[in-house]
Amino acid sequence: MYPLRRNRRLRTNGAIRSLVRETILTPNDFLVPLFVVEGQGVKDEIPSMPNYFRYSLDLLEKEVKELWKLGLKSVLLFVKVPDHLKDNKGTEALNPNGLMQRAIKTVKNACPDMLVMTDVALDPYSVYGHDGIVENGQIINDDTAEFLAEMSLSHAKAGANFVAPSDMMDGRILTIREALEDEGFTDTGIMSYSAKYASAFYGPFRDALDSAPVDVVDIPKDKKTYQMDYGNRFEALRETEMDIDEGADIVMVKPGLSYLDILRDIKNEVDLPVAVYQVSGEYAMIKAAAEKGWLDHDQIIMETTTAFKRAGADMIASYFAKDVVKLLND
Ligand code: PBG
Repeated sequence: MYPLRRNRRLRTNGAIRSLVRETILTPNDFLVPLFVVEGQGVKDEIPSMPNYFRYSLDLLEKEVKELWKLGLKSVLLFVKVPDHLKDNKGTEALNPNGLMQRAIKTVKNACPDMLVMTDVALDPYSVYGHDGIVENGQIINDDTAEFLAEMSLSHAKAGANFVAPSDMMDGRILTIREALEDEGFTDTGIMSYSAKYASAFYGPFRDALDSAPVDVVDIPKDKKTYQMDYGNRFEALRETEMDIDEGADIVMVKPGLSYLDILRDIKNEVDLPVAVYQVSGEYAMIKAAAEKGWLDHDQIIMETTTAFKRAGADMIASYFAKDVVKLLND
């Protein structure tokens, strides 16, 4: 073939490279995770997530308006629940005037067309830091799934467009879908964290929400009985197919960078939109290396987020969403 075929011809200058580029990011590719806290005028930097913040509702409003101006049209809400409101069953999650419910309304008032997705899981509300109800040292499945359906309904009533169950209980997509249908929320979507691995990359997120599993005797100190084993590939497909059968509208792979193979597998097998989550530990790693001057922050965030899209992601939840979009606009 050589020299008739010289692959470098298509790389000779920026114009030809942009002409033949297969994967191009746009603001439409991103979901923006947002952390919400009680209070007034609070913009609290998360120590293990430099330049990422928890916002009180007043500043959340400002932030979402800024996101909207940048062309970011979807947010994924997480709340940090005060300790005194935590219990084993996540009771506070159903409070119609709880922080999540008020956050949903705040975003909708500030930006009516912003797509609001809400995290559905017990951990920020749980005294044990688990995604489900704990009984006799076990995270019990079916009662948790029923509870998550109630929680989803409460978010839908507050105005959420999508609920995003991140808990990995079996059967919860079905209980949630049925509850939403029964109450007439037929247009409320479900983005299922369908292939979610038990990962050490969630550490900074658990700092952000003070939601790590507690270190107490007879309580599991990790989430390995519900989140997936990172050695497994085919299990991710099983999980995803089941969630689709139960009524998921969007499925997800999480974390991101260490699971690009899983993302590609799932994209090849299913015909629903597939999301990926570039999680807190991935953010922290990049920030730390960039702070040391060992990696180029902006180049790394463009390369990693493009990699997700190339691997098959239809949307990317990322703490870098705003940075990436600013770079795209430059
Ligand atoms: C809670 C939840 C977690 C994340 C999203 N929802 C943490 C966990 O499962 O322990 C992680 C997100 C991140 O690390 O950025 N169910």
